[in-house]
Amino acid sequence: MIARSHAIFPRVNRAGWIDTLRVITTVMAPTVAKGIIIRRPTMERLAQRQGFDTKAVQQMQRLKNKYGPAPLLLPIPFRPQLLILNPGDVATVLQSSPEPFAAATAEKHAALAHFEPKNVLISSAPQRAQLRPAHEHALATADRLHPYATQFKNIVEDEFSQVLTGIGSGRPYELDWPAFSQTWFRVVRRVVLGERARNDVTLTETLNELRGRANWAFALPVDQRKLARFHEQVGRYLGEPEKHSLVNRFPKGDQLAPENQVAQWLFAFDAAGIAVLRTLAVLACHVGYWSKAVEEAMGRELDRPFTRSCLLEVLRLWPTTPVILRQLAKDIKSGNRVIARGTGVIIFAPFFHRDPALLYANRMEPSIWGQNDALPSAGLVPFSAGPVICPAHNLVPMIASFAVGTFLSAADIVLLQPPLTVGDLPGTLNHFDIRLKLTARRRQK
Ligand code: HEM
Repeated sequence: MIARSHAIFPRVNRAGWIDTLRVITTVMAPTVAKGIIIRRPTMERLAQRQGFDTKAVQQMQRLKNKYGPAPLLLPIPFRPQLLILNPGDVATVLQSSPEPFAAATAEKHAALAHFEPKNVLISSAPQRAQLRPAHEHALATADRLHPYATQFKNIVEDEFSQVLTGIGSGRPYELDWPAFSQTWFRVVRRVVLGERARNDVTLTETLNELRGRANWAFALPVDQRKLARFHEQVGRYLGEPEKHSLVNRFPKGDQLAPENQVAQWLFAFDAAGIAVLRTLAVLACHVGYWSKAVEEAMGRELDRPFTRSCLLEVLRLWPTTPVILRQLAKDIKSGNRVIARGTGVIIFAPFFHRDPALLYANRMEPSIWGQNDALPSAGLVPFSAGPVICPAHNLVPMIASFAVGTFLSAADIVLLQPPLTVGDLPGTLNHFDIRLKLTARRRQK
């Protein structure tokens, strides 16, 4: 069946071969090379040095100027893609997911098959109808504060205060990604799987190995033995879920393939950790925002709207999911053109998030978010939007604001590396490169 033309895109333009090739080389290839499922430090460094992200946005602008704002069909052999160029179409696509814009795409299948082949992201419509509510319940998607907010805050404070004890003596302490992430993943394992997973570093390592393979998607076979081992490891925690862990809130039933769902949680918390470290780095350079966030951190409220907005800004400036992919579940008609079922749809978030027409394109402006965490009609969608929006879009900012607050209430922070200009923030902020100097915070009277 063909969808009515006026319902979706009144017009679609077709890119020439050279422009298609340019999109592949300057937008898609660098994004894939940095590592879609787990970041590759060497490629991140190269991207930062060579300004790949800024160049990708410029390339997209050139295309929009040349072809106009309608979706642009890239005639890639066997895998045509529609490139979204207009914020209004971002909202349309995300709102009209998973039908006709299915979330399960061939590319996601190829990557996620390596560690979570039955995940909601790549599920059929009937499976999604069962799986999505299970995620929403466990992650308390609709609630700004998760029912386990207090327990999670205690976990975050407990783990990070151990990092911060070293600075009490007045000796400065240097924090970088390797040190931060070790603690972060202890937090993640406790939050997701419970106390007894705290030191299960092997579990995280096995997942990271599978994620490393997933970066290669179609190009590598699935390591079935390692996958089975990983799911068996996760299954041990699911079998006897601890009170106040996220797995405890996941509805029972093997038909939900819970290991496959929890794998996504463990994986996706990596991005949240990256965003926390970046938020600390940026706040360290912003005197005004810094003191507002400190004020919140010193307060008693669990909800910290300003810190949340800072995190959203970091995710706008450096989206950890730079591409949101869809695939047409049926043919759609646009003018005289039929866009075939199976055509991919690409929303390249940095193009919208860093649109030079925005006054705040390259600086931090927490006020734009208000109470929202998605502004789809402006194309600002760090957690996506619509029915497939990240089900942790409330949980992540909440936990991140606890983590940021734990540092801010105890330490003064100086960004040692990389240098940042607050009025003109770079297109790439390589988190592997961030070094922060922490000293015990001077108490204000
Ligand atoms: C910085 C952190 C995170 C960001 C920016 C983020 C963003 C996203 C985005 C953009 C999507 C794709 C939505 C779409 O295709 O429209 C997504 C999907 C998803 N995320 Fe997150 N996410 C983060 C962390 C998490 C965490 C920590 C969890 C779980 C604890 C999680 C669970 C999920 C799940 C289950 C999906 C699939 C939703 C579906 O297909 O219905 N995410 N996330």
